[in-house]
Amino acid sequence: MEDLEYNYIKRKLLTLTGIDLNCYKAPQMQRRLKAYLMRSGYPNWPKFFRTIQADPVKLSKFKDYLTINVSSFFRDPEKYNYLKSVVLPDLLRCRSTLRIWSAGCSRGQEAYSIAMLLAKVSGPRHQYRILATDIDRSALEWARAGGPYSADDVVNVSGNLRLNYFNAHNNQYWIKEELRRKISFNQHNLLADPISGKFDLIICRNVVIYFQPEAKQELYHRFYNALKPGGILFVGGTEIIPKATDMGFETASISFYRRKEARNSHFKPSRPRVH
Ligand SMILES: C[S@@+](CC[C@H](N)C(=O)[O-])C[C@H]1O[C@@H](n2cnc3c(N)ncnc32)[C@H](O)[C@@H]1O
Repeated sequence: MEDLEYNYIKRKLLTLTGIDLNCYKAPQMQRRLKAYLMRSGYPNWPKFFRTIQADPVKLSKFKDYLTINVSSFFRDPEKYNYLKSVVLPDLLRCRSTLRIWSAGCSRGQEAYSIAMLLAKVSGPRHQYRILATDIDRSALEWARAGGPYSADDVVNVSGNLRLNYFNAHNNQYWIKEELRRKISFNQHNLLADPISGKFDLIICRNVVIYFQPEAKQELYHRFYNALKPGGILFVGGTEIIPKATDMGFETASISFYRRKEARNSHFKPSRPRVH
């Protein structure tokens, strides 16, 4: 794709959706964009943008496509086992209230998975609040409604958990009200919006894979600041934080980083911070 064409698409997208493609890896995005235009049958980008500008449903579909919201409950079961048997009990041992953030939560599967685990491992003296955010409004509406989720979405959910937390109907699954009440779903752009509050656990998985390395590093730095000392950042199976130790993290286990009490004094963020 020519630079001129890509710059035009980036400008239009930023105005229409608030998504800044400069923060996403160009080759992957360009491939996806080309495939989408071809599939939707428009002769060129100006015609495509004129149409979606006048059609909120088409605009929202395009945004969904770009932000790629594939997810499932307990995606990566061994990691969720580790979360249940080690990370959450450790956190609950020394804290009576936990604040948890599922960042890039898609349709809520990740946040609901955490809520199910917490219901199991927390005791009567514990309290927890779960914030779940995503850039994609329609994914959030889905999450707030608690479904419907497909049989594929719930394939890693045990029979007991399905029985306790889902209503099943025609091979579709809906989260029960009692679990929905545990989570606040809010729109938030990880590349642009400020982060408020301090968290004991931040889960950000399979979100940054398409971000530019600088944007990724900047975000990890902001996650560090948003964690309480001893707090945990849970990342995706293929994700590694470069220079994590310099940033002030220690590895708790594969995919789990713990915020140390104090950051190494020689650490400098890769570029000036926006927030
Ligand atoms: C592949 S899904 C991952 C969902 C879940 N974390 C998981 O691992 O199953 C990626 C999610 O990141 C969201 N996302 C992409 N860019 C984002 C941004 N800049 N800010 C917040 N969310 C973003 C997408 O809308 C999508 O729902």
